[in-house]
Amino acid sequence: MNWTEQDLQEVEMKLLLEGIFRVYGCDFRDYSEASLRRRLRLWLAGSGFHSFSAALGPLIRDSGLFTKFLQQITVHVSEMFRDPAFFRTLRRAVIPHLKTLPVIRIWHAGCATGQEAYSMAILLQEEELHDRCRIYATDISPEQLRMAQEGAYPLKEMKTFASNYQKSGGKAAFSDYYTVRNDCALLMPSLKKNIIFSPHDLVTDPAFREMHLILCRNVLIYFQAALKRRVLDLFHSCLAHRGILCLGLKENLIGQEMAAKYDELVPRMRIFRKRDDADRTQTR
Ligand SMILES: C[S@@+](CC[C@H](N)C(=O)[O-])C[C@H]1O[C@@H](n2cnc3c(N)ncnc32)[C@H](O)[C@@H]1O
Repeated sequence: MNWTEQDLQEVEMKLLLEGIFRVYGCDFRDYSEASLRRRLRLWLAGSGFHSFSAALGPLIRDSGLFTKFLQQITVHVSEMFRDPAFFRTLRRAVIPHLKTLPVIRIWHAGCATGQEAYSMAILLQEEELHDRCRIYATDISPEQLRMAQEGAYPLKEMKTFASNYQKSGGKAAFSDYYTVRNDCALLMPSLKKNIIFSPHDLVTDPAFREMHLILCRNVLIYFQAALKRRVLDLFHSCLAHRGILCLGLKENLIGQEMAAKYDELVPRMRIFRKRDDADRTQTR
């Protein structure tokens, strides 16, 4: 066989992912190929290494370099109250269910730099539920978690965040939730009180237990179908009785078997409630 340069680069890329998996346990081998390939090439172009093979040795020996690599090959775009209609629906359709619980456990999987978890904290404060909640906000990237923990965002983003917040049914002025220092908006410390930011890899780390609400939005789109299925199985095992799962607006449950395990609480908003076996028997 005549190997083209592109074929050879493909082999080197696969070896790089294999090496990273063996050394750090982070498994990108089943991520969607086209977008991962694009991000890996971008990283290589700015890395100073002339090939993926040349990068492999340094990457598996230097965990600091690997942290920067992770930061660049994951997509971490986020906004506060991203998809306002989704947050409006949370208020209307999910909060009443949470109000029936004495203690509320919420998991933001793939929280990036924290905007989604802080949006939830604001919503819970306004619904007087914040003191009853534990919010676990996790991500594979330590650098993003460090920024999330800071809760400081560029001031120029506040216009978008404020507009999203108003459209989502916000009950106050968005500016009540931050103070300004130089060109940064610092979120109120009270919002951080019940959020635990911690590293967690959805592909390789063990499950959390008894979650009442899981949000994993705009993460599964980067995975291939088999990996999506595995992660969806993980969420199912993490949810408490009648727990609620929220996916991104472009994401969905995969296959009839998985869909049969949930009721779609609000069509098109990707909000699903876990069925128990009794529910399933009744519909047979
Ligand atoms: C586009 S952001 C989504 C942020 C937020 N959920 C939202 O919708 O605005 C995707 C996040 O998923 C994280 N991620 C990618 N692979 C992951 C994995 N295997 N385990 C945990 N998080 C992962 C990335 O680091 C990134 O922060």
